[in-house]
Amino acid sequence: MPINARFAENLDELDSPKLQKAIALFADRLEDEAGKANTAEEQEKFFSELFDTQEGIFWSLYSKVLAKAGRVTWADYGIRQFLRAPAKRFLQLGSLSDNPSRYFHPIQRYMETLIANSTDVGKFTLARALWESRAEGIKSAIGDYWLKNAKPEAKREVGQLYNELTKHLEDLLKQRFGVIESGGEALARESVDLSLPGVLRLVGSRHLIRQVFQEIEDIFFSIGFSVVEGPEIETPYYNFEALNIPEFHPVRDDMDTFYLELPPSRDKKTAPTPLLLRTHTSPMQIRTMEKQKPPVRVIVPGKVYRRDNPDATHSFAFHQIEGLAVDTDITFCDFTGTIEYFVQQFFGPSVKTRFRPSYFPFTEPSVEFDVSCPFCGGTGTAAGGGACSKCKGAAWIELFGAGMVDPAVYGFVNYDAKKVSGFAFGIGIDRLAMLKYGIDDIQIFFQNDVRFLKQFP
Ligand code: FA5
Repeated sequence: MPINARFAENLDELDSPKLQKAIALFADRLEDEAGKANTAEEQEKFFSELFDTQEGIFWSLYSKVLAKAGRVTWADYGIRQFLRAPAKRFLQLGSLSDNPSRYFHPIQRYMETLIANSTDVGKFTLARALWESRAEGIKSAIGDYWLKNAKPEAKREVGQLYNELTKHLEDLLKQRFGVIESGGEALARESVDLSLPGVLRLVGSRHLIRQVFQEIEDIFFSIGFSVVEGPEIETPYYNFEALNIPEFHPVRDDMDTFYLELPPSRDKKTAPTPLLLRTHTSPMQIRTMEKQKPPVRVIVPGKVYRRDNPDATHSFAFHQIEGLAVDTDITFCDFTGTIEYFVQQFFGPSVKTRFRPSYFPFTEPSVEFDVSCPFCGGTGTAAGGGACSKCKGAAWIELFGAGMVDPAVYGFVNYDAKKVSGFAFGIGIDRLAMLKYGIDDIQIFFQNDVRFLKQFP
């Protein structure tokens, strides 16, 4: 049929709506052509030839619409017309009596392919609706046009073909549903292809600072301390005032830091509470005592910030571990004993320790804690002669500040200063790590250079 051939050639150039319109027009033209037949014989010949030469054309058209539009509903006018018009004619003309199975085969093949390609729920639902939708499905169309209208002598055979096709397709649909429901198809697609070489992922390790935190935490765990953590953004009250550092106290100059630029308060009349990046972990002394009655035994690891210019021993962001022990009977001896125990566990039994008087507004008395230089064995002299480069010949290295908690601090947390006593310390972790692992520049901790990091697996 010349009209079919022309039509088929242009199919791929049409967009989806045009394709559907073209199919509708094609169906109308078939009706017209059929109408030109003057006799029943001529009409029968016309449709028989159409089916013989273009067997399955409907199904291939249907596939093309599906591919272009992503979906086809059975209600698409063109598709429906195209199936119904010729089918109706065939049945009216009794062509089915010739060899009814000829008409069932293309439908069977098409539905089999459609079901087998239903790899997800969406496609499966479409395939099932196309077959069994009561109003518009192929099954009911065959029933209405082929089965009901079949000539009495053909009815038995058409009925049998109809039942066989129905059973066959419904079995296939059931099987397919099982596969989709069990996720088998998706699993098969997603399963790992062991023949492909794997992607080599490098295994990282904990940063040296984290490792040192862990070492220190383990030592303090072993003597009954627990770990608490606190905010890096603080109020001046916790960072200074409650630690007995009032506004304009000169100590604040040493802890110049970063204040946050805040939006105006809601009522726009009062100034918002200032916030700053904490300059030390000591605010957690206050927060812990506010929450907890004595006995208190905690360490607080964390990041702190100061507006210090970077050099080999200074960074604007660094790490500290705060320690706090408060109880009814804690003495200076408990304090020194705890610190000495820690230092010897951390550096080894050969290091010696010493205290020097110092000053912190929140401890009284306050001390700086030194260790004998672990590099020159506390001699001040390097192995090859000359002054030890690490302690600069002093034989001692300053480690951290500490002291007995100043009674004034207890006033801020509602502890009875007459009943309780305790000690606190604040260790700079970066410098401690530098000391223990012989690192001469603090900046290297923050540069993420793998050549450095790999040395501490
Ligand atoms: C304090 O921060 C006190 N809060 C410590 C303290 C706690 C005293 C409890 C008493 C009781 P200091 O400002 O000295 O103290 O800092 C403690 C340690 O942090 C120093 O010993 C040093 O190791 C480290 N540190 C200070 N500034 C820097 C910096 N810019 N970069 C690297 N480490 C630093």
